[in-house]
Amino acid sequence: MKGIILAGGAGSRLYPLTLVASKQLQPVYDKPMVYYPLTTLIEGGIRDLCLISTPHDLPRFKQMLGDGSRFGISIEYREQPKPQGIAQAFLIAESFMGRDNIALILGDNIFYGSDVFYRKIAEFKNGAMIFGYHVNDPERYGVVEFDGEGRAISIEEKPKHPKSDYAVPGLYLYDNNAVAIAKSLKPSARGELEISDLNVAYLKRRQLHVHRLSRGFAWLDAGTSSSLHDASAYVQAIEKRAGIKIGCPEEAAFRAGFLKLTQLEELTGRMPNCEYRAYLNEVVAEAKRLEKNL
Ligand code: DAU
Repeated sequence: MKGIILAGGAGSRLYPLTLVASKQLQPVYDKPMVYYPLTTLIEGGIRDLCLISTPHDLPRFKQMLGDGSRFGISIEYREQPKPQGIAQAFLIAESFMGRDNIALILGDNIFYGSDVFYRKIAEFKNGAMIFGYHVNDPERYGVVEFDGEGRAISIEEKPKHPKSDYAVPGLYLYDNNAVAIAKSLKPSARGELEISDLNVAYLKRRQLHVHRLSRGFAWLDAGTSSSLHDASAYVQAIEKRAGIKIGCPEEAAFRAGFLKLTQLEELTGRMPNCEYRAYLNEVVAEAKRLEKNL
């Protein structure tokens, strides 16, 4: 499976923060926002990635992440000239996808606390797989409704009167038919190719699987000043308490087997003296201790 990080959009809700750098380049506590979805895909075992952003911001992402080799992955870049919808990602990245299945993640979605994505990505064969997460403000999201047996029966984008409290987070798994289906979609009233319409198309074909995420799982979106602040506070609280880092792609790449210990050590040695480097030094030291004890 390949991965797409969608990191474009106008970022207007974060103005004036986004006057110079886009939303997904803003800090979430101690890292740029895009590090979190990047880490989620790496943790999912995905190493062929495509990042989509605006012509203005794409050079900055390239500067930040390069060709991905320092994480043991490959990153290609594609432009989205105008924010014409999340489902447009499949038209833009068609040549990148080839015949593969795809995991699409939104650049402002932060996940923490489970290996469920890893399992679902590993098990995925065909159709579409999305997730449901209980929230107190479903009207802000795509909303999935279930029948008495837990099967999805409707999906609506930002409904005024939501039929359930289950929002659809910004991580979606699709087979290669997503490209053809995206091509057949019509823009919505707000002029976008809606990801919810793509999901409805899979639902109508009876090929949509929805997995409800458990209560212990954290999903944060950092699209407004307030939710950006909340996300930072959350990451800080967990990192301080547990002595770990959330959204650290170097560590995830090492644990996924994309980087060898020597490569991680060398990479860490090239970082400036900072807390991030000290953390990765600890990861290296612990891995060495474990190796010795084997
Ligand atoms: O966060 C999950 C929600 O994301 C889903 O529940 C909704 O179904 C889905 O439509 C989306 O809702 P948002 O209101 O959060 O979408 P937004 O327009 O803010 O875009 C989400 C991210 O995708 C954001 O980081 C910008 C990026 N984006 C969006 C569009 C429409 C693009 O890069 N290009 C685009 O054309």
